[in-house]
Parts: sequence; structure tokens; C-alpha cells
Amino acid sequence: MCGIVGYIGNTPAGDILLKGLRRLEYRGYDSAGVAVKDSDNIAIEKKKGRIDNLDLESIITGNVGIGHTRWATHGKPSDENSHPFFDCSESLAIVHNGIIDNFVALKDELEKAGHNFSSQTDSEVIAHLVEEYYQGDLMDAVTKTVSKLEGSYAIVVMHRDHDALIFSRNQSPLVIGIGTEENLVASDVPALLDHTNEVKYLQDGDIGRITTEDVKIWNDKGLEVERETKVIKWSVEDAEKGGYEHYMLKEIHEQPKAIHDSFLGRLVEFNEVDFSKYDIDLINIISCGTSYHAGLVGKYIIEEITGIQCMLDLASEYRYSSSTEKYPFTIFISQSGETADTIGAAKEAKRRGCKTLAITNVLDSSLTREVDEVIYTQAGPEIGVAATKTFTTQLIVLYLIAIQLGLRKGKILIEQAETYRNELRRLPRRVEVLLNDVDAIQDISERVLADAGDIFFVGRNINYPVALEGALKLKEIAYIHAAGYPAGELKHGPFALLTNKTPVIAICIKDHTFEKMLGNIGEIAARESPIICVCQEEMELEKLCDEIVVIPEISPLFSPVLINVVLQLFAYYTAYNLGRSIDKPRNLAKSVTVE
Ligand code: F6R
Repeated sequence: MCGIVGYIGNTPAGDILLKGLRRLEYRGYDSAGVAVKDSDNIAIEKKKGRIDNLDLESIITGNVGIGHTRWATHGKPSDENSHPFFDCSESLAIVHNGIIDNFVALKDELEKAGHNFSSQTDSEVIAHLVEEYYQGDLMDAVTKTVSKLEGSYAIVVMHRDHDALIFSRNQSPLVIGIGTEENLVASDVPALLDHTNEVKYLQDGDIGRITTEDVKIWNDKGLEVERETKVIKWSVEDAEKGGYEHYMLKEIHEQPKAIHDSFLGRLVEFNEVDFSKYDIDLINIISCGTSYHAGLVGKYIIEEITGIQCMLDLASEYRYSSSTEKYPFTIFISQSGETADTIGAAKEAKRRGCKTLAITNVLDSSLTREVDEVIYTQAGPEIGVAATKTFTTQLIVLYLIAIQLGLRKGKILIEQAETYRNELRRLPRRVEVLLNDVDAIQDISERVLADAGDIFFVGRNINYPVALEGALKLKEIAYIHAAGYPAGELKHGPFALLTNKTPVIAICIKDHTFEKMLGNIGEIAARESPIICVCQEEMELEKLCDEIVVIPEISPLFSPVLINVVLQLFAYYTAYNLGRSIDKPRNLAKSVTVE
């Protein structure tokens, strides 16, 4: 995810672009840049780091420009990898949001044709392709360029000889702002609202042009189209959150896309890590907090799909534990890649002679420099302190790793791998269905959970760690004491705490533990605790439970993804009813860079 903005009008573009980029910083913030054109030239100012690092003194005054704030996916955050990109002759500049899947092949062809590249990004191929096709008609050159691109893109192109901005989109958002004697284009409406509240949302395959006076759009069949003008009534702050009241809720709702982006291009050919280089007979997963819970779910996934034994360590404990004789293949999970405990544990694992892999959401984060291999989750930036979409995408990567290892080890055949892949393909839609019907969750949060002093979460097998994660989320943002347990463990102590004032959220999936879980629910009912059951179908559960939340049909192995979304929503709506500071809970930080 990155933010892009373009301006053409009668006012100097530099400050307008900077202001627009600040409104889009929630989409990425590891580097930023702007390009502005006067009558003869285009000047670019771009730098690694936040927007405030940009020095606009070096930018010529001009009324046409494009800007970009980056969330790195290809090429680490650096000055050279920041957007905008020039072509070889510095006649044109581009900004891009998305991922060009075939950029390696395109770059190869362009280099053979004599183009010189200045970055490691996928995006730069766009500038050189437009240059290659340009013969005086910029629209024609961009049309030919996008016909060569595979993957996702929102792009804006400017040329020193044209008073126009050319744009196109495919699977990445782009919206036009209609002003008075000025027009804008941006990834999202917050960047437009200082100028106009009249916008046109582009559709996949659209390509078009803005000038100071007008907007023209053609669809993927080359027909000129009129996209409806909508009037936005949100404030800038509402718009940054996509109309959601909190980033956390927005990020919960972004999960279908985050899941899709995390398996895109990796389902069949997963070639980021060559597992044949490693002799993997034992896996250790090391992480903290929510990422630790993802690792615990991962243990069940990996053992089921690969037959490889999998252990878990909390990073803060691993560092100071005695060295083992064995050297397991060690996986570190960290959304930020900056957690001090996890980085320390990675150094220690290396010292012990382990081969290491990091799963993280942040390109080139500190953790990535400590390990042998890295896989990125592709969740996009997460602003809410409570991890939501990053947890879900960590699970997706763990499924992908397990399928790959399962095939290598001969534990599963290609048909079984395809069955798992189909489950992954169906997940975004299933999460969407769940998110479209949250009334029961909202109601239970308000009526049952918000007044509770203690809440228990119980599950069995692969959903036991999901119970732990549900409890952590609730503690974190609602400030209610909560504990997650394997359902069979309640009788070994916690039963003493159960009363009619301690709600129990029970995860009940139709797997081999179902009958046992029914027994556990019966035991809880006998203590008169209100029982909220999260299950696949009502079965006979309504007789035993006070409240039921039904998730869409799914196989048990993939059920943690859906169940966890329900628990995220319980935490969110409970905290909401209590008026908590949801995006910035007290005493907590997004990345914990101290031990
Ligand atoms: C909870 C949460 C934390 C983090 C933990 C590790 O919502 O976000 O528990 O999971 O601090 O952080 P990362 O994953 O960045 O290493």
C-alpha cells in the first residue's frame, strides 16, 4: 500500500502535494517524494523517511506535479527507491501504487534496449516503458505501457511537454477530485478534501487524463466513459479512516483484501524461499504477543500439513533459556520487525547455529537483517496499536509455508495441496460474508461483555491459541481482565472463578474435539456462567449456550481465520461501548523496541 497524489491547476503544486501526502501517510510512510514541472523541466525531490524530510526549496515552482508516500514492497526504503521515478532522459516522471508481478522480465527487456535503472523497485519499469513507447502522444504511450503490466497498479504520469496528468488503475484505488480551475488525482479522498468534495472513483482498467479544465476517462475497451461524480460528506479525519470511526475497525474490514494480497502470486509457485536448501526435521517458532499466538496456530497448521514437529518459544524467554543440543529451523514472527525481544532472540538463534526465517510486514525492518530468509505478509500498514490484519496475514503465510513443506516432505500430494489452496482462495469471500453481518456480535458486546469484570475464552486444538488471542485483544483495548484457556483445562483450577457474572466465550468447531467441547460447555453451564458460543452451525448448541454466533462454513484447519475475526469484533465493540481509546490503548505502543 502506498499513497499517490497528482495536482494540475493555477496554484504552485509543491505545497498542495505535500499536504495531500500528509493526508495519505496512513497508507505508508517509509519514504516520500514529489515531482513538479515548470514550462521546461521536471524537478524531483524524494527521500527515505517521513514527508517532513523533503526539502521543497530544491523544487522549481510549477502548477503541475505528482507525489508519493511509500510502503515498500520491492526494494528497501532508500532515497533511490523512493518515488517519483524519471525515465532515462528525465522528460517524464511517474508514481505507482501496487505490485508489478512481471517487472523482472520487463526490466530485462528494457535494459537490453538500453534503458538505465536507478532503483531496485518494480515501479521504475513503468517510467522506462512509457519512454520506450512515447512518440509525442503521452496518452498513447501510457495505454501501451499498461497493456504490458501484470499485477496491481494505480499510476500517474507527467511529461515536461504536456500540461496534463495521465492516470490508470487496476486493482489499486484511484480517485479523481474535481475542482474549480484545478483537478486532482489520488489514492484516496483525504488527499482531495482541502480542494473539493466532488470525486469520481475510477474502475479497474480505466485510463484517463486531467488538465486544469477537464477530466477524461476511457474504460478497458477504449471507450470514453463518464464515471459518476459523488459528493463526499466526511471530514478529513473520517476520510483517512475510510469512514470508519477507528483505524482498528477499518483494518478489521481490510482483512479480505489483506488475505488476498498475502497469497497473491504465491499459491502455486512459492519461490521466495528455496526450502530445498534446508534440512527441516524440527521447527521452532519464536515471537511475542499476538505474533506468538499466530505462531501457536502455526504449530497446529505445520504439524497437520507437514508432519514436522513444531515447538514454540516466547522471544523474551528464549533469549535467556539454556541452549539446546538441536538446531531447529527457526521462524520468527513479528508484524513490525522491530520488536527488541524478537530481534534479540534471532541473534541468539544464529549464535546457536540455527537456520532462520522471518515473517514480517515491514520491508527491510531490523529483524530482516538478522535472518537467513524473509517472507513478507503484505497486510499494508497497520495504524491501530492492536494487531488485527497482520495476525491474519501471518496465518496465511504459515499456511503457504506448510503447503510447500508438506509437498516437499511427501506428506501431502498435489491434490491435497490444491484442496488447501482452494480453502485459501475462498477465505477472503468468507471473511467478507462474516463482516457483512455483525449485528449479533455488536449486540452481545453491548449487552453481555461490556459490564463484565472477567471474561474467559476457551477453545480446543487449533482454536485454543485463538482463544488466547481473543482474550489478549479484549484486555488490550477494552481494559477488561480476560483469560484464554484450552477448554479441558478449566476444571484444573479456573472453575473456582466461574460464576453467573463471568461470561465464557466458547469456540466450538465441528472437528475431532467437538464432543469433548460439548462436555466442557455443559460443565461451564452448570456453573451458571453466561456462555457465548462461536460455532459453525447451531447444532444442538442453542440448548446449552446463552448466545450463539455462527461463522460461514469452513474446514476446521482454516477456521481460526474466521473465528479470530469474530473475537476481534467482540473486543472492538466492547471497547467501543466502554468509550475506550481504541486505536491508542493506554500504556501500549505499536512496536516495542525495548526489552
Ligand atoms: C497485540 C499486539 C502485540 C504485538 C507484540 C509483538 O495486539 O500487537 O502483542 O503482537 O508486541 O509485536 P510484533 O509482532 O511487531 O513483533
